[in-house]
Amino acid sequence: MNILIIGSGGREHAFAWKIKQSNLCDSLYVAPGNAGTASIAQNVPIGVDDFEKLGSFCTENHIELIVVGPEVPLVKGIRNFFEQHPKLKTISIVGPDKTGAQLEGSKDFSKQFMLRNGIPTAKARTFQAAELSAAIAYLNDCTPPLVLKADGLAAGKGVIITTDKEEAKQVISEMLVDKKFGEASTKVLIEEFLSGIELSVFVLTDGKDYVILPEAKDYKRIGEGDTGPNTGGMGAVSPVVFASADFMQKVEERIVKPTIAGLQREGIDYRGFIFIGLMNCNGEPYVIEYNARMGDPETQAVLPRIKNDLVPLLLAAAKVELKGNHIETDVQTAVTVVMVSGGYPGDYAKGKVIHGIKELHEAMTFHAGTKYSGGDILTDGGRVLAITGMGTSISDAREKAYRDVAKLKWEELYFRNDIGLDLLNFRPDASSKH
Ligand code: AMP
Ligand code: GLY
Repeated sequence: MNILIIGSGGREHAFAWKIKQSNLCDSLYVAPGNAGTASIAQNVPIGVDDFEKLGSFCTENHIELIVVGPEVPLVKGIRNFFEQHPKLKTISIVGPDKTGAQLEGSKDFSKQFMLRNGIPTAKARTFQAAELSAAIAYLNDCTPPLVLKADGLAAGKGVIITTDKEEAKQVISEMLVDKKFGEASTKVLIEEFLSGIELSVFVLTDGKDYVILPEAKDYKRIGEGDTGPNTGGMGAVSPVVFASADFMQKVEERIVKPTIAGLQREGIDYRGFIFIGLMNCNGEPYVIEYNARMGDPETQAVLPRIKNDLVPLLLAAAKVELKGNHIETDVQTAVTVVMVSGGYPGDYAKGKVIHGIKELHEAMTFHAGTKYSGGDILTDGGRVLAITGMGTSISDAREKAYRDVAKLKWEELYFRNDIGLDLLNFRPDASSKH
């Protein structure tokens, strides 16, 4: 069958790499893709939210399965668009409809969903612009650290954590009144701070049944030792030592099952991935957020550990036939190092020539912000490449990844040297100290 992946990051290159291995895959397309996806699939120059053009492309190219990578087309209703179109409604889509995508698209919606369904999460109150003085009075009564969250999508920038009450008051006023994040900050949540260590858990569901994918740890901050501003993700490791069988059992019973049951009870036809961002607080899981998609760069560490052919699983999720499916996991450890343009997550240059790609042998290379120009591969974004080493241990996987990372060069490149280091000597009691 012909398959279309929507997106252009390292996550989408990893999906393309995995889907390409399936006997069920005939032609594979990525819209819009990057230089990496161009080497194994056909890139299609259509934007991720140009539904009309994507629809025409699918009809002309007999697409039978679509995997939606990023959140924006999901929140904008790509699934609804296809399902309402007579020529497109038979195409299988992995990704929730507009309502399901609200689990990511509105932090207020997802918080209320968790509360209604008894899912453990941080306490929170939601405020609108007309309630600024109530919000400030509420902040006065809170014990720092204070967590402020814009309700809508804000490209990973909508969460502010501060110990300074005056700063929190200033920020909430900027968000609500000055619309710092535009529509996304029409509502703002003031949330209880959860102290612990984070874990990313991935579920593929057809709305009734589910499979849990290998878990991963993401490294969000730009600087080594988890310092500096948040990014889209600077690295990932899978498996995660503190995701013990006992902890994952709690996650499944207290979070995954009530999430799926809640979706069903509320009539939300969810078919796709649910990425659960968790805090492990002294061995107890709390949901920080839901995402309606896979993580980036977690996908680049998770998919190499899945032995199954992915295409039957994706089709089963889209067709509500997931019952009886199981994930076969590779016991190896995956360590993914993200290489970025200097300056990221702030301003950075594009168009730098990437040297050394042909010399990589030990790890897997997933492209993110790259493009072909003449015979060269150029940087074309903040996150440029994700290098995944697979090994018998974190040290082994790290060595493989970093040996390939060392061969890559472009002007002003940056990466973190400490991906996975914290897990090397991890002791369970350290979970309360992070
Ligand atoms: P989010 O966009 O909801 O993923 O938040 C971004 C990051 O902020 C998370 O990955 C956490 O590191 C942190 N964060 C969000 N909410 C909380 C919370 N209630 N307590 C502590 N840290 C949080
Ligand atoms: N790595 C975090 C995310 O994909 O949102």
